Amino acid sequence: MPETVLVTGGAGFIGSHTCAELLAHGYEVVVVDNHVNSSPLVLDRIAKTAGRPLAGAYRADVRDRRALTEVFAAHRVDAVIHFAAHKAVGESVARPVEYYDTNVGGTCTLLSVMRDHRVDRLVFSSSCSVHGDARTVPLTEHSPVAPTNPYAHTKLTCERILEDVCAHLAQMRVLALRYFNPVGAHPSGLLGEDPRGVPGNLMPYVAQVAVGRRERLSVFGDDYPTPDGTGVRDYVHVMDVAEGHRVAVEHLDDRTGMRVFNLGTGTGTSVLDLVAAFAEASGRPIPHQVVDRRPGDVAALVADASAVAAAWGWTTTRDLAAMCRDAWRFQQLHPDGYTR
Ligand code: UD1
Repeated sequence: MPETVLVTGGAGFIGSHTCAELLAHGYEVVVVDNHVNSSPLVLDRIAKTAGRPLAGAYRADVRDRRALTEVFAAHRVDAVIHFAAHKAVGESVARPVEYYDTNVGGTCTLLSVMRDHRVDRLVFSSSCSVHGDARTVPLTEHSPVAPTNPYAHTKLTCERILEDVCAHLAQMRVLALRYFNPVGAHPSGLLGEDPRGVPGNLMPYVAQVAVGRRERLSVFGDDYPTPDGTGVRDYVHVMDVAEGHRVAVEHLDDRTGMRVFNLGTGTGTSVLDLVAAFAEASGRPIPHQVVDRRPGDVAALVADASAVAAAWGWTTTRDLAAMCRDAWRFQQLHPDGYTR
């Protein structure tokens, strides 16, 4: 019998790619998504990438215990991947209570319904932002945590809740994956990143400049203590992130309890490196101009990706050129995103 994985937030950017990866590897996949920040059109596209359908797709909020209970009653769920959450740092500063309610409250409701149905295997979507302003990179799973905004606080709070739950419920198996900067798109061009409004993140903004939807990129500061002065990040291909989740599901039974792993490449890329790589991949110039630093930004965040490699014998394989090429393909095919 194939395993059934319930994916909350399965229509979102990372969620949709992970569902495609799971389907392609023979899993039965059930999606729960309230579509506040994702298009329902994505669901058919996920199925198309794998040539087989989802086992179920429900429009439901993870805080809705009754709706979740119905989903768990309708499927024999073997494991859960929990993506559903708000994720915009700036918005979290303006609406902290909403962030705690959805991200922390939703996780608690999900855990409680999982418990009711004796489901004890969970992969949790966390973030490298739990480290805040890193003093030294690369960051290991044991580097100090010091969230600097409500979004990052909600992720760290969830990690602590999960740790405590695992300490007291002996059968629980939880893997929290801390993503660095997921970018790129599915190689089919069917799935990609479709931010609403003006993109806040670098890669989607650059892609929209390349396609002519925005005039020029603002580079937020070139006076950081980095080789070219612009911010350095660990961009990781969303298909590697998706694969990482599939491999995580395979390793849930390695042992009980809670484990945390970084999901990054270990390679630092500056804003100007990324601009150059995207220009190369797209064959288009990326007009850009240096402006002031963005408040809250840090100089460099790069993963030490060795723990996951040691534990699972798995590493990311897609480089910056592949990230740009795939993001560009999606952008060209969908100049205005999924048309909802
Ligand atoms: C942000 C979030 C992080 C989240 C990640 C992916 C913050 C502090 N962190 O990371 O929690 O996991 O997005 O969603 O917001 N840049 C420009 N011009 C732009 C946009 C970005 O120069 O128009 C620069 C930034 O200064 C930074 C780099 O590009 O150096 C990456 O920025 P971004 O893509 O927004 O990601 P992070 O800020 O690293």
